[in-house]
Amino acid sequence: MGQRMDAPAARMLRDGSQVVIRPLAEHDWSTLLRFGRTLPQDDMLYLEDDLQSPEIITRLVNASAAENWRQLVAVDWDDQIVGYAAVRRLAGWSNHVGEILLIIGPAWRRRGLGMVLARAASDAALSLGVAKVVVEIMAEQVGGHAIFERLGFAVEARFSAHARDRHGACHDLHVLARHLQ
Ligand SMILES: CC(C)(COP(=O)(O)OP(=O)(O)OC[C@H]1O[C@@H](n2cnc3c(N)ncnc32)[C@H](O)[C@@H]1OP(=O)(O)O)[C@@H](O)C(=O)NCCC(=O)NCCS
Repeated sequence: MGQRMDAPAARMLRDGSQVVIRPLAEHDWSTLLRFGRTLPQDDMLYLEDDLQSPEIITRLVNASAAENWRQLVAVDWDDQIVGYAAVRRLAGWSNHVGEILLIIGPAWRRRGLGMVLARAASDAALSLGVAKVVVEIMAEQVGGHAIFERLGFAVEARFSAHARDRHGACHDLHVLARHLQ
């Protein structure tokens, strides 16, 4: 198993703005909740964990050192969270597989941050010791497809009408995967 990524890493985005990528920490409770409250309702559907719920935020920050989970944040100059990514080892017979989540604050999109944080999450998967990483993306989420395909992921499964948006409309869901070993 590799090392956990604990050292904060500064990154310059293509518009010149700076962020730091670091592990989520217990002291991030209020800034993670603030970040969650900036997310559009449609994006919230994508998340298994409701980042607008104080109870969920408590669960996430309490798990910041969990063995089977790497949670990363991108923070701005004021240590405010502007992006969140996680990779979690699945349970049972898929415990060699890690699932990635990625979400960027609306004001920070299209600057290259999604790519930066996705790469950091993929690297973090190595420290979990998993052999394969997957990410679930609705067919229409072109940004997510572009990011993970650039990182070497390929669509491995398509589920029809498997995701529902907040208006009740169904969308196809793609599972993208990358084999690490
Ligand atoms: C998808 C998401 C993570 C992209 O974050 P981002 O910081 O804007 O991504 P980047 O700026 O690194 O974009 C990387 C590439 O993705 C593509 N892309 C990103 N957003 C796009 C959009 N809205 N439309 C079309 N292409 C898009 C582009 O090819 C882009 O490269 P380019 O800017 O060089 O053309 C962000 O929009 C988000 O959090 N969406 C809601 C949650 C979600 O869909 N997660 C994806 C599941 S992985």
